[in-house]
Amino acid sequence: MISSKEFARRRKDLMAMIGKNAIAIVPAAVEQTRSRDTLYPYRQSSDFHYLSGFPEPEAVLVLIPGRAQGQFIVFCRERDRERETWDGYRAGPEGACEQYGADDAFPIADIDDILPGLLEGKAKVYSAIGKDKDFDQQLMEWVNSVRAKARTGAVSPGEFVDLDHLLHESRLFKKPAELKLMRKAAKISAEAHCRAMRASKPGLNEYQLQAEIEHTFAMEGASFPAYTSIVGGGDNACILHYVENNQPLNDGDLVLIDAGCEYQYYAADITRTFPVNGRFSPEQKAIYELVLKAQLAGIEAAQAGNHWDAPHQATVKVITAGLVKLGLLKGSVKKLIAAGAYSEFYMHRAGHWLGMDVHDVGDYKVDGEWRLLEPGMVMTIEPGIYIAPDCKKVAKKWRGIGVRIEDDVAITRKGTEVLTAGVPKTVAEIEALMAA
Ligand code: GLY
Ligand code: MN
Ligand code: MN
Repeated sequence: MISSKEFARRRKDLMAMIGKNAIAIVPAAVEQTRSRDTLYPYRQSSDFHYLSGFPEPEAVLVLIPGRAQGQFIVFCRERDRERETWDGYRAGPEGACEQYGADDAFPIADIDDILPGLLEGKAKVYSAIGKDKDFDQQLMEWVNSVRAKARTGAVSPGEFVDLDHLLHESRLFKKPAELKLMRKAAKISAEAHCRAMRASKPGLNEYQLQAEIEHTFAMEGASFPAYTSIVGGGDNACILHYVENNQPLNDGDLVLIDAGCEYQYYAADITRTFPVNGRFSPEQKAIYELVLKAQLAGIEAAQAGNHWDAPHQATVKVITAGLVKLGLLKGSVKKLIAAGAYSEFYMHRAGHWLGMDVHDVGDYKVDGEWRLLEPGMVMTIEPGIYIAPDCKKVAKKWRGIGVRIEDDVAITRKGTEVLTAGVPKTVAEIEALMAA
């Protein structure tokens, strides 16, 4: 769990970055209708959660460094006995102060009356400009109501700054309490993949392996999958974002599962590819072992001091050389890399930042250059080879093989910590687990 002290530290750090004479405003995630009066499960926005832990919709968080009456202000729904009977507990402004450490809290219904007064006299407004049109418009209305009072001496803000750069730079570096939650998300997700491997057999449907995976998530208290689970048997493994998950799993085919849970707002992201019947064919094994070699090279390159692109380049090198060796590409490895020839079979990048969001926030380049990896960053390493079922350039025996192997890696002072090591990935380990 993230302690209230930790949430307070995050706010303090952000306020130090925005400085006096500024105000930061962060809206809660908006509830989304699934059908008529039924909503999608609510999840607080990562930024809002990161700064407060406050889990409710219809809320706005305001930070005003140096404000004498309190720097952390929350607008939220009032307590309402009837609504709470139907929809569940609300903290109310009292709870926002008592349970979440707000210095001041007001009913959200009063925000139009109160917020312009908080903006008045501030030089800079920090918000996530452009993310939510309705919120941008609301913010401008608050600003305009300060401007309307100019003749009374009210000074309106003159600078509007994107909050994301500062906030997301903080989120990029995971503190020990966050890494603890990420280890837990990774452990649950690894267990889930093991369960799916053990359950796999020809004749099952893809959705049944999805059920095995998500059973473990739910049993271990992980609130949601961190993204829609991908379970692609046979040719479906070659569709990168395949989520139909409704086809039978055939004897002799591989199945690719890309699934990870979200545990207390932190994501895991694991892909494993294994034979439906527990035994790799020679072609499947050749492609699999090449992807594994590339993945290990990618992990090896994920070291503090290396730049962000180093792991990707390492995977490209191994995959291109391996494809030449197997006869799937022809020519000099160097020239093939320069021409991007591998991208017919390996068309995505080797990974992404991981954190509260599966494709987590944080810049990949700084001043136009790939940024250097530093302790506290967490990323995925997930090369793959996907040979389209209709790829006429290669011998028939290779067609329809799709393999991706994905782990979650934390950059540490001493090297790397593979958070998702709990699920096997060598051919021998996978075959042994599936035979047991
Ligand atoms: N599961 C999404 C990804 O691997 O990026
Ligand atoms: Mn990923
Ligand atoms: Mn993934």
